[in-house]
Amino acid sequence: MKPETPPGCPARQSLYGPEFAADPTAVYRLLRESGPTAPVELAPGVRATLVTGYDAALHVLRSPETFSKDPRHWKGLADGTVPADSPVLPMMMYRPSALFTDGEEHARLRGAITDTLARVESGTLRGYAERSADTLIDRFAPRGTADLLGEYAQVLPLLVFNHLFGCPAGHGVRLVEGMSGMFDGVDAENAYELLIATLLDLVALKRRRPAPDLTSWLMEHPAALTDEELIHTLAVLMGAGTEPQQNLIANGLRLLLSDDRFAGDLSGGTLPVEDALDEVLWTDPPIANYAVHYPRYDVVYEGTPLRAGDPLVVSLAAANTDPALTSRQRVGNRAHLAWSAGPHTCPAQGPARLIASVAVEKLLDRIPDIELKVPVEELRWRPGPFHRALAALPVGFPPAPAVERSGNGRHGEGRSGDGRVDGLERSSSEPFPPPAFEPWTPEAGRPRSAARARAAAWWRGE
Ligand code: HEM
Repeated sequence: MKPETPPGCPARQSLYGPEFAADPTAVYRLLRESGPTAPVELAPGVRATLVTGYDAALHVLRSPETFSKDPRHWKGLADGTVPADSPVLPMMMYRPSALFTDGEEHARLRGAITDTLARVESGTLRGYAERSADTLIDRFAPRGTADLLGEYAQVLPLLVFNHLFGCPAGHGVRLVEGMSGMFDGVDAENAYELLIATLLDLVALKRRRPAPDLTSWLMEHPAALTDEELIHTLAVLMGAGTEPQQNLIANGLRLLLSDDRFAGDLSGGTLPVEDALDEVLWTDPPIANYAVHYPRYDVVYEGTPLRAGDPLVVSLAAANTDPALTSRQRVGNRAHLAWSAGPHTCPAQGPARLIASVAVEKLLDRIPDIELKVPVEELRWRPGPFHRALAALPVGFPPAPAVERSGNGRHGEGRSGDGRVDGLERSSSEPFPPPAFEPWTPEAGRPRSAARARAAAWWRGE
C-alpha cells in the first residue's frame, strides 16, 4: 500500500491560482506519476484526492454504494480543518439538490429536473438560441471586432436561460455574476449570496404569477419540492446552464479559430462544428475537475488508501486525456467524461449541446472571415480548480451590417431609460417578447441588503 502524502508535502499540487490555470495539462501529467489518484489542494487548506485515471474515474462515478455525493460526509468540514470562509465552499457544501444527494432523495430531486427539462421542445430551444445569437451578433458585427467571451459566449446562454426560466433581464445578469464568482473562487461567498437572493426574488415572482417556464414547471412537479429544495435546484440548473455552457461555446470557438485542421471550412456546414465540440469535450471539458465524492468507509484503490469522508474530486479533464486510453480517435467518439457518468451524469446533455452548436454555427455562418486578434498561446484562462474557462476571446473581422428582422423592432419596452440593462447594452432588436411580469428596474435589480443578509444567513445554516 502506498503511504499517504503528509500535509504540506510538496507533492500535493495546487489546483488554484494562475499557474494551474495557465497549464493544467502539465499538472495532470505530474499527478499521473502517482498513479490514477493523487493528493491535491483545491484552495488554501482544502485537501482532496484527484482522480486522474479514466478507469478510476468511471469506478468512482459508478459506485454510489462506496462513494457518496453528500458533503455531509466531509470530515474536514465537520472538524474545522477546512477554513469556514474557503472560496470553494459554495461549490462543495451540502444543499438539498440533486447534486449533493444520494439514493432515493437524489432520485426524487433528479426526477423533478428530468421531467421538467423534458417539457422543453428542442425546436423551441433552437429558436431561442438562434434569436439570441442573432441579437448579439448584430451588436458587434458592424464594429469589426469583438470579445467573443464577454459579448457572446457568456451572454448567449444567459439570454436563452432568462427565457427558459422566465427571468426578468436584471435577474439573469445577477445570476451570471453570482455563478461566475463561485466558479472563480474569488469573493465566492458574496457571489453565492447574490445568486440565492436573486433566486428568492424569482421564486416569489413565480408564486405570484406562474407562467409556462421551467421555474413554474418545477414548482408544480408532483415531487412537491420545498422552497429550499426549489431554490437550490434552480441554482444547480442555472449554474450548469450558464458557466459550463459559456465555456463549451468559447472553448469550441477557440479551437475552430486556431487549429489548422478546421481552417478553410469554417462556414462549410455543421460537421466541423460538431467535430470541434467533440474534441473540446475531450481535451478542454468546461467542467474540468468536479463530481466530488466522499468514500463512505476507508477503501484502498489500486494501492492508495482513500479515507472515509475525505473528498475525492474527479478530474474529467485528466481522465479524458489519460494516456492509458486505447482509442485515440476523438472525432465522433463520445465516450469522454465531460458530462460525468453514473447516477449524477448531466441530465441536460442534449439541450446543452444544441445551444452550443447553434451558437457556434450561427456565428461562423454570419461572420465567416473571423480571426483571433492575438496568438492562441496568449489567450488567458480564468483561475479556479473546477472549470476550464477563457478570460477573453478577442477577434477581428470585416465589419458587417446588422440584419433586419421583422417583428423585432421594440426598443427596450418597459425597461429603464438609459439604454443599458445592468451592464448588458440594450439591443435595438430584443431577442424575445418582453416578459409578461413587471419590468426590471435598476432599484429592483439590486438585492436589498436585508434580503441579501437573510440569504447569507440561510446558506450558512443559521
Ligand atoms: C456545456 C454545458 C454543460 C456541461 C459541460 C455539463 C456538465 C455536467 C457535469 C460534469 C455534471 C456532473 C457534476 C457532478 O457530478 O458533480 C453535471 C451535472 C448536472 N448538470 Fe450539466 N452540464 C452542462 C450543461 C447543463 C445545463 C444546460 C443544465 C440545465 C439546464 C445542466 C444541468 C445539470 C444538473 C441538474 C446536474 C446535476 C445532476 C445530478 O446530480 O443528478 N447541465 N453537468
